[in-house]
Amino acid sequence: MTALTLSTSSAAALRADAVVVGVTKGAKGPEVAAGAEAVDQAFAGRLAATLETLGASGAEGEVTKLPAPDGLKSPVVLAVGLGEAPADGAAYDTEALRKAAGAAARALSGSKKAAYALPVQDADAAQAVAEGALLGAYVYTAYQSSNGKAPLAEVALLGAKPRDKAYKAAAERAAVIAAEVNRARDLINMPPNDLHPKSFAALAQEAAKEHGLKIEVLDEKALVKGGYGGIMGVGQGSANPPRLVKIAYTGGKGRGAKHLALVGKGITYDSGGISLKPAGHNETMKCDMSGAAAVLSTVVAAARLGLPVNVTGWLALAENMPSGSAARPGDVLKMYSGKTVEVLNTDAEGRLVMADALTRASEEKPDAIIDVATLTGAMVLALGNRIFGVMANDDAFRTALHETATEVGEQSWPMPLPTDLRKAMDSPTADIANMGERMGGGLAAGLFLKEFVGEGITWAHLDIAGPAFNESGPFGYTPKGGTGSAIRTLVRVAEKAGEGELL
Ligand code: BES
Ligand code: MN
Ligand code: ZN
Repeated sequence: MTALTLSTSSAAALRADAVVVGVTKGAKGPEVAAGAEAVDQAFAGRLAATLETLGASGAEGEVTKLPAPDGLKSPVVLAVGLGEAPADGAAYDTEALRKAAGAAARALSGSKKAAYALPVQDADAAQAVAEGALLGAYVYTAYQSSNGKAPLAEVALLGAKPRDKAYKAAAERAAVIAAEVNRARDLINMPPNDLHPKSFAALAQEAAKEHGLKIEVLDEKALVKGGYGGIMGVGQGSANPPRLVKIAYTGGKGRGAKHLALVGKGITYDSGGISLKPAGHNETMKCDMSGAAAVLSTVVAAARLGLPVNVTGWLALAENMPSGSAARPGDVLKMYSGKTVEVLNTDAEGRLVMADALTRASEEKPDAIIDVATLTGAMVLALGNRIFGVMANDDAFRTALHETATEVGEQSWPMPLPTDLRKAMDSPTADIANMGERMGGGLAAGLFLKEFVGEGITWAHLDIAGPAFNESGPFGYTPKGGTGSAIRTLVRVAEKAGEGELL
C-alpha cells in the first residue's frame, strides 16, 4: 500500500515526482487554495492565471498537470479542483478534500512520490487528505501480469505538523482506515473461484492472528449440528460449503464498556440459485460478500486503533449456486432461531444467511447490532449507486447512523420499515416466506431481518447493494470495482461507542 509521511518541508524544497495543490472555483475563475503559497510564489503569483489559461475552473474532480517552474524541486505541479471555496475563515469541506486528494493520487499512479500541499488547517482536514490519497491510490492488480499499473508509492503530507499530537493521530487513523478499506476492496475484487467461504474464513483467520483477535469458524458440519438452517439452506447447492465466522476484539475495559455486534452478508457468489439470475445480472455478483468484508475490516480497524470498546463481527459466508443439492423454491428451512421459512425465491438468499447470524449475534446480548448487506436490487432502484439505505428498530439510532455516515463522507439515507409490508410475506406453509411483494422490496427485506433480532436489542440494517461495487468509472477516491462501502461509518460508530456515545 501507499506509504504516508508527514513532512515539515516547504512545497518548493521537497523533492517529489509532483506537488499537489488545490484550486477552488472562484467568482472570477480558479483560485489557488491555501497550502500552495510556496508553489504560487515559484510561478511569480501567476499560478491561478496559468491554470485558467489551461482551461481549469477549480471544479471538483478536475485534474490539471503542468510543468513546474524553476524554484521547485519537483518537476510537475498537479492542480486538483476542490469546488466552491469555503466562506472566509471557514474550514474546507472534508469530503471535498478527501475526493480531491483521491483524484490526484489516481492521476499519479505509477509515480514514486507526491508532495501534497493541500489546505490542512486542522487535524480533521489532514485525516481527510491522507485518507483520500491512500484510498484514491488503490489499484487491484493481483491477477494481471506485470503491466506497469502500480499505485502511487508515497504521499508526503505538507502542512501537517509531524510533532503535533492531533496531526500524528490523524495520520495514523487515516492509514489504518485506508488499509482496512483497501483490505475489503481486495476481498470484494478477488474472483469468486478463489474467494469462497472457506478461503474467506482462512483470510479472516490470518488477519485475526496478525492483530491478536479471537476467531471461531463454524464449518458445514458444525452449522448442521448447530441448526443453522438459513446458512446451510443457501450454501447446500454449492461445492464450496458455507461458514459462519465470529471474530472478536475486546478493547473495552471495565463494567461500562460497550459491546457492538456487526453482522455481514458474505455471499461469495450470488448466481440466484435455482431462481437463477439472468445474464446481465450476475457479472458483478462476486461483490455479494461486501458486507462481510466491511465487518471484517471494521473489527480489525478497531483493534489496530486500540478503541476502548468490544466489537464482535459475524461473517455469514455461503455461495448461492444451483445444483441437484440446492434448495428449491417451495422448500421450508428451519432457521437457527427455530422459525420456519418458505423459500419462494432462492435469489432472496441474503436475508436467510443474515437471519441466522443475527439470531446468533443476539445471544450475546450486545448493546447494539448493525448488519451490513448487499441485500436488494430494490434499494439500488430507490437510492442509486452511491447511497446506502439505513433501517432500524429505533428511530434515534437510525438517525445517528445516518449522521455518522455523513460525518465521515459516506452517503446514506434513512428508510422506513412499514409493518404493512409484512402481510405479503405470510406463508401458507411456514412461519414466514423469504419474499413479499416486489414494491418496496428493500424495506420488506429489512422487515424480514428484524424478526430474527433478539428481543429488546437495538438494531440497524445497512443495505449497501448500490455503493458496494462501482461498475462505472473511478471518481474521487473511489475506484472501479469494490469500494469498501460502510467501513468508515462503522469505524466511526465504534469510536463513538468507545467514547460512551451512541450505544
Ligand atoms: N445480491 C442480491 C442483491 C443485489 C442486487 C446486490 C444488485 C447488488 C446489486 C440479492 O441477493 C438479491 O438477489 N435480491 C433479490 C431479492 C428478490 C428476489 C426478492 C432482488 O433484490 O432482486
Ligand atoms: Mn440473490
Ligand atoms: Zn445476494
